[in-house]
Amino acid sequence: MPKYALLISPRAEAAYFHQAAEVAFAELSGAVDVAPEVLSHGDMRFLVVDVAEGALPGLLRLSFAQGAFAIEGDAMLPVAQTPGFHLHPDFVWGEKYRGKTNETLTQLLINLALQQVDRPAEELTLLDPMSGRGTTCLWAMRYGMRSVGIEQDKQAPVDIQRGLKKWTKLHRQKHKLSEGWVQKVNKRGAGKYLEFAAEGVSARFITGDTVAARDLLQRKRFDVIATDVPYGVQHQGRGQRSALEVLCEAAPGWAESLAPGGAMAIAFNSYQPKRVALLEAFSGLGLEEVPVAVAHRMSESILRDVLLLRRG
Ligand SMILES: C[S@@+](CC[C@H](N)C(=O)[O-])C[C@H]1O[C@@H](n2cnc3c(N)ncnc32)[C@H](O)[C@@H]1O
Repeated sequence: MPKYALLISPRAEAAYFHQAAEVAFAELSGAVDVAPEVLSHGDMRFLVVDVAEGALPGLLRLSFAQGAFAIEGDAMLPVAQTPGFHLHPDFVWGEKYRGKTNETLTQLLINLALQQVDRPAEELTLLDPMSGRGTTCLWAMRYGMRSVGIEQDKQAPVDIQRGLKKWTKLHRQKHKLSEGWVQKVNKRGAGKYLEFAAEGVSARFITGDTVAARDLLQRKRFDVIATDVPYGVQHQGRGQRSALEVLCEAAPGWAESLAPGGAMAIAFNSYQPKRVALLEAFSGLGLEEVPVAVAHRMSESILRDVLLLRRG
């Protein structure tokens, strides 16, 4: 059985900065039983694994993987395998806007959570409880997962709709766009939603405060929760709430929204909130932490990390 080398993509180098190889190693380690080896060739970096060829489409879904090569003697032969995603890649990468979560990091969050859930992605549902303009939900559709996002910014669905209309026109993609209201709306949650469906999967973007998630979601539960939380102070009318204050209030609702056997991946700036404070916010809610070493420095003031939790 040949070994396979997975090329670390320039996208991953850009997303994870100096820690790209470490993040890739941690992500791959969650997907295979034997520890990968690191291999450099000029400027290219690879992770080498001993797996059957049938495992490659799954491994090519890892956020760092550009492609796979079979190692035969001194030669590395490209393998014609694909990750088998739905929809065109620019469904996720196409729109650029301020505050967008890096697409590669978003894919990492989904993968880390999926590695904890022992069912195929196509059977699962995903929630992003702070969904912004929808990067996680769009990724979920590429994996074949039905998804729901909650975002407080009322402009978000307007922007999402504009982006989707542009994209479907460009790709002549058959689709359905609809709007509605969730049945039960509490004082803090606006409850209006935009829904997009194509290729048998859908994403619903609900406007509202994530603190009211249980009502906005009509008590539905999800197999995967993946989200990138704000890296600074949130403006709420005239008051201001830190990311941690919002998360402390929202955590019980998020935990309740996670189905048994499900997993939650939260990206955060570990300077604010600190990991220990974030963990504390989720303590006593029936979730257990899964250690994962994917922290990477983005700038002097942002050391991005991921908290991975699962419900047994
Ligand atoms: C880091 S951004 C997420 C960006 C998103 N992943 C994307 O790519 O578009 C965090 C988001 O959380 C939203 N947010 C903050 N507090 C919230 C709350 N209480 N309820 C709902 N959304 C909230 C912010 O408006 C912001 O859009």
